[in-house]
Amino acid sequence: MKFSTAIIVSFLFLAEFCAVQSLVLDISKFGGAPNSDITLALGNAWKEACASTTASKIVIPGGTYKMGGIELKGPCKAPIEVQVDGTIQAPADPSQIKAADQWVKFLYMEHLTLSGKGVFDGQGATAYKQAQPAAAWSGKKSNVKILMNLGFMFVNNSMVTGVTSKDSKNFHVMVLGCNNFTFDGFTVTAPSDSPNTDGIHMGRSTDVKILNTNIGTGDDCVSLGDGSRKITVQGVKCGPGHGISVGSLGRYTTEDNVEGVTVKSCTLTATQNGVRIKTWPDAPGTITVSDIHFEDITMNNVTNPIIIDQEYCPWNACNKKVPSKVKLSKTSFKNIQGTSGAPEGVVLVCSSTVPCDGVELNNVDVKFNGKPAIAKCSNVKPTVTGTAPACQAPGAVPAAGRKSPAK
Ligand SMILES: *[C@@H]1O[C@H](CO)[C@@H](O)[C@H](O)[C@H]1NC(C)=O
Ligand SMILES: *[C@@H]1O[C@H](CO)[C@@H](O)[C@H](O)[C@H]1NC(C)=O
Ligand SMILES: *[C@@H]1O[C@H](CO)[C@@H](O)[C@H](O)[C@H]1NC(C)=O
Repeated sequence: MKFSTAIIVSFLFLAEFCAVQSLVLDISKFGGAPNSDITLALGNAWKEACASTTASKIVIPGGTYKMGGIELKGPCKAPIEVQVDGTIQAPADPSQIKAADQWVKFLYMEHLTLSGKGVFDGQGATAYKQAQPAAAWSGKKSNVKILMNLGFMFVNNSMVTGVTSKDSKNFHVMVLGCNNFTFDGFTVTAPSDSPNTDGIHMGRSTDVKILNTNIGTGDDCVSLGDGSRKITVQGVKCGPGHGISVGSLGRYTTEDNVEGVTVKSCTLTATQNGVRIKTWPDAPGTITVSDIHFEDITMNNVTNPIIIDQEYCPWNACNKKVPSKVKLSKTSFKNIQGTSGAPEGVVLVCSSTVPCDGVELNNVDVKFNGKPAIAKCSNVKPTVTGTAPACQAPGAVPAAGRKSPAK
């Protein structure tokens, strides 16, 4: 009896041990060494991880590495964690990276965890000097692709935690076609004057959470493109940067609706904009944007804290007099406090063909030079409750709110 119990106990222990044990693939085993190019090593480690029928973990230990463009593709047979503790540098010269759109790209898979205390360094300085954002909007295309740092395309039930994206040449992160995707404790850093370096941009994705993440960059900290649904942005610190933005939207006929966005408990510091929704005038898009809620937000010296801009038309790329066809409904701004860099703390410029419905301002207490900032509104009648400015005469969105080239 005693003997068989011991066998059963040790069998259970063994079974438990096997279940939690995962295959660990250190890139050094694939020839990846510090101060060398690890593109091949990571590619080979990925092949093994993706074919494994048990969970696996690829480890890139501390140290500095170089890496060219890479696509890490599924479908894979079991969950994969990629733990990056080192600093991985992209080639500084944009023309040297052979990849499409993103330098490091994860595609068509589920159960990915990207973790560690490491850094994806896009080495953007050379690209920033070459960038001519205005050219992009006049239809001119550069022959050199200015790549984003990280892409997650059609990746479900996955998360990014710990790691940093630094000095991306373009957007830091693109999330496209993902479901149940979480960023928690992620960091984005780039100079305040680096062009078009949005922190996290997403589109066509459902149930994306950006939590406890610090973003300091040269463009929008977070931008939500068309087809964003059930999105939570919470505990995000943004600055420098252009704020947290829904849009720009409506430029194309192929766009999908945006619905269910909550931006909560975020702090913006010395950013150009705070929270913003932007749509294109003089454009064919007829989508709806609904259930967008901004609450418990602190603005520290934010030039334009609250903006709805349905005349978003950077670089004079269109005629502002032709109204946007994008319909905005159920948008709330609640418990928003702090300081504005402009007298107009709230600017709501809606479309004259499809005015905004269901806009609420509740406890919006933003000060400019110690006095309550004012609200300017067109084609919208917000419900104002608690301490919040009532709408004054219609106003235009300040030019500073439109500096960034759109997506
Ligand atoms: C991700 O989820 C969507 C929606 O459930 C599904 O259509 C798609 O096939 C999934 N993709 C992968 C790679 O599992
Ligand atoms: C969502 O993704 C997380 C990983 O970030 C996973 O643990 C969780 O099970 C997923 N939820 C569902 C409903 O699949
Ligand atoms: C406010 O931010 C601007 C840059 O946007 C900066 O020049 C200025 O010094 C800041 N003021 C305070 C009081 O922090």
